[in-house]
Amino acid sequence: MREMKAIFETNGVTETEKLGEALGKLLSPGDCVALKGDLGAGKTAFTRGIARGLGSIDYVTSPTFTIINEYGGDIPLAHMDVYRLLDAVELEDIGFRDYLKSHVVVMEWADKVTDILPPEVLWIEFEILDYKRRRITFTATDGRYEKIIRELKRQ
Ligand SMILES: Nc1ncnc2c1ncn2[C@@H]1O[C@H](COP(=O)(O)OP(=O)(O)OP(=O)(O)O)[C@@H](O)[C@H]1O
Ligand SMILES: [Mg+2]
Repeated sequence: MREMKAIFETNGVTETEKLGEALGKLLSPGDCVALKGDLGAGKTAFTRGIARGLGSIDYVTSPTFTIINEYGGDIPLAHMDVYRLLDAVELEDIGFRDYLKSHVVVMEWADKVTDILPPEVLWIEFEILDYKRRRITFTATDGRYEKIIRELKRQ
């Protein structure tokens, strides 16, 4: 499959939030953003930015124990963290498919459930370079997410 990548580096949590915010402004209901990468690499911080970009005024925190948190905004956000998920059935049970009809869905540790993700997702990988620096790699597998990545790189 054709893939397009874009690599960003952030220096500090604020920069990661800003990158997330810029992405959030470009997303629409039905988009699925799949996050992967080390513990503490910045996935939740990035999602906080996405929520802001979608017009939410709430402070996004980790949904690790609840699996999913919802945020209102101009576009609603479903923020999932499947780190502690037992199996894919549990994800179906919490209404994963339904959220994809109306919300932007952002999923932390999505690489644990690749089988049940929609065919097209925007993959974003987080790597810790040092205590303040993160490498954030976007991978698009279809034209829509490619356009979004191009737009982000222009900014
Ligand atoms: N450039 C950076 N980007 C994001 N976070 C950073 C950066 N530099 C330092 N940090 C710190 O790293 C931590 C990132 O935490 P965060 O909860 O966002 O990670 P996570 O990837 O969601 O972890 P988990 O896998 O446990 O859910 C925060 O404490 C944040 O202050
Ligand atoms: Mg997290």
